[in-house]
Amino acid sequence: MGHTLFGALGLFSLNILLYCGHAQDALLHIEPNWSPLFTGEKVSFICDSREGNDTDWNYSFSRNDHLFTTNRTENRYKSSSLTRGDSGEYQCVADHKIRPVTRESNKVSLTVSGVPRPVLTVSPSWTSPGDSVTLTCSVEPPSAGWRFFWYKAVPDMSSTNNYYTFELLAGGTTGTEQDSYILHGQTHTAGYKCRAERGDPVFYTQYSDVKFVWSGGVNPAASLTVSPHRLQHFSTESLSLICEGNSAEWRVKKADEDGFVLPCSYWGEMTGSTCNTDTRASSGVYWCESETQSSNAANITIHNPEEAASSSVFLVPLVVGLVSGVLLIILLLLFLRRYRKSEASSLSRLVQASLLSL
Ligand SMILES: *[C@@H]1O[C@H](CO)[C@@H](O)[C@H](O)[C@H]1NC(C)=O
Ligand SMILES: *[C@@H]1O[C@H](CO)[C@@H](O)[C@H](O)[C@H]1NC(C)=O
Ligand SMILES: *[C@@H]1O[C@H](CO)[C@@H](O)[C@H](O)[C@H]1NC(C)=O
Ligand SMILES: *[C@@H]1O[C@H](CO)[C@@H](O)[C@H](O)[C@H]1NC(C)=O
Repeated sequence: MGHTLFGALGLFSLNILLYCGHAQDALLHIEPNWSPLFTGEKVSFICDSREGNDTDWNYSFSRNDHLFTTNRTENRYKSSSLTRGDSGEYQCVADHKIRPVTRESNKVSLTVSGVPRPVLTVSPSWTSPGDSVTLTCSVEPPSAGWRFFWYKAVPDMSSTNNYYTFELLAGGTTGTEQDSYILHGQTHTAGYKCRAERGDPVFYTQYSDVKFVWSGGVNPAASLTVSPHRLQHFSTESLSLICEGNSAEWRVKKADEDGFVLPCSYWGEMTGSTCNTDTRASSGVYWCESETQSSNAANITIHNPEEAASSSVFLVPLVVGLVSGVLLIILLLLFLRRYRKSEASSLSRLVQASLLSL
């Protein structure tokens, strides 16, 4: 008797569990469901009661158990521009307008990150005429749904500074779904950048830093000659970077180890088509540019003679110390050998001989 009662109760509660806990739960979708989302993006929260008509139900939405619904008759809540503070666990509840039925949804966690950063890589970064170059644009932190846009740097000769204008690469107005773009038959030194976008309304990333592809090959329409003709120099000697080719006006550019590009005027003086460096010149990749042409590039190392001199100042006493130490040990060994064999009288002769042989 007791057993059947417990059995019946068990079945009853099992039914309640099945009814309330599983098949009849409401469903919460977040559209788009990218993770992470970024500050400034917008999403929709959609609550599905999974029974009857949407209009039969009232809806409420919560984040970390705090309600934020404004209109209970809508099964869709459109966010405004997200901020990091919108990260959290979201849930919705559907209440039937007539029957006393309440459906809780699954919980969906949403992460809003700061600002996405596109990072461009070029491979290879040094080319010979005819090589293909692959540009790759990755968005940090990684997230889905991006379209990518690719730009080429065009020197702006009208600006007195270092500026480039950027032209969208062919076929680029709708962007590419792939995060890489192949440049076929790359021949010249050139800079590139990328950005990404996604969503509706469209959300844009900023532009990536500009990355250069350096041409090692000779281009008769634009060439750089380094004088004196070598790639290792001292900052005390002046260096001439000579531009030649099909252009009346040239600029000499330098990219330092961090990829930061500055024109000749920042580290030398431009006379006609030649840039003569001054003491501000430092190691980097150098090349010539006109509005339409760009030359081969040269990776020049510039040593600071003060550093070289100061290291040799330390070197001299080190070598002297080592040599005299070794000589002392040899003398001592010779002395001990002779001392055991012969009497002390030969000692003075031995020392004299050793000193003379030095
Ligand atoms: C849901 O209800 C609305 C208004 O009550 C009606 O116009 C619509 O056709 C219904 N949809 C379905 C799928 O029954
Ligand atoms: C709530 O949403 C319904 C359906 O879209 C709309 O008809 C109604 O005007 C809204 N109410 C308020 C107070 O915004
Ligand atoms: C559904 O929402 C409407 C509008 O907020 C409200 O007037 C009505 O009382 C709600 N019905 C139920 C059953 O919660
Ligand atoms: C230039 O040469 C230096 C020294 O060999 C090297 O470390 C650096 O990576 C080179 N730069 C480029 C852009 O190839």
